Amino acid sequence: MDIHEIDWNEVWKDLHEQNLSRRRKEECASIWESRESALEFLERSNKNPQRVAKVFSDLGVGPASRVLDVGAGPGTLAVPLASLCAHVTAVEPAAGMVEVMKEFAQKEGVENLEIVSKRWEDIDPAELSGPYDVVFASYSLGMPDIRAAVEKMCKLATKRVCLYWFLGSSPWEQWMIDLWPALHGQEYRSGPKADVLFHVLYDMGIYPNMETLQLSYTRTFPDFDAAVENFKREYHVETDAQEKILREYLSSVLKEEGGEFVLSGNSMRVKLWWEVDQCA
Ligand SMILES: C[S@@+](CC[C@H](N)C(=O)[O-])C[C@H]1O[C@@H](n2cnc3c(N)ncnc32)[C@H](O)[C@@H]1O
Repeated sequence: MDIHEIDWNEVWKDLHEQNLSRRRKEECASIWESRESALEFLERSNKNPQRVAKVFSDLGVGPASRVLDVGAGPGTLAVPLASLCAHVTAVEPAAGMVEVMKEFAQKEGVENLEIVSKRWEDIDPAELSGPYDVVFASYSLGMPDIRAAVEKMCKLATKRVCLYWFLGSSPWEQWMIDLWPALHGQEYRSGPKADVLFHVLYDMGIYPNMETLQLSYTRTFPDFDAAVENFKREYHVETDAQEKILREYLSSVLKEEGGEFVLSGNSMRVKLWWEVDQCA
């Protein structure tokens, strides 16, 4: 096999599509549509201030910096960044995330944050108030055409582009890999990981710096039934037979800690970054 004949952008598209079809053809952003999941995400992120602090030092931004955050979620990074920088634009398509980000910005008294409520692939660079010193996307690469997505990021950045993405199977993917055949009669297909992303960048002539990271991931529920209700929604559990399978699985992986029910694991991530003079 000639590795140079592989179209890695097509590999990304394929894995992205197969992953979504396992999640019932939802668009990546629609998984984040509800206000409830946005609040839960922000609360979880606030319990891990080290991650936010690390991103700030990674990005190398300061009071004069203009920053673009692609797939900003509930503003986990965009809102605190805005209080440090001259300007932040946050692109975020999910309505629940945008609502929570606006509230978070207001609570923090942040006024230099511009929120653009669209998918990255639907954005015309001319509609943003670019250029930006740094463009970054943190665990938000839910774009079918990753090559076009990265090209657009390069166009808008004057100094640096930084991407955070996943390596290997995350704990939450492992739970789905375990459960999907019994729940839905088919294998769970994971989305594309950083190996594919690296090849796409490489074929674009971008040879990124890389740093491997390990992050702990924890979901906490007040009781067993709350966990069941949560995963019934997330895993599209509709019948009694499916619920029985889910309950059995959760009773084998949930741990009771201090009266709460906890699911946890470690996930491997990677930071890829490059100076824009590498972009074609
Ligand atoms: C895991 S959250 C990460 C939020 C934030 N970047 C952080 O690191 O805390 C992923 C976010 O990416 C957004 N997203 C997914 N696909 C996207 C797309 N095609 N364009 C823009 N944002 C997208 C989702 O709506 C979601 O809010």
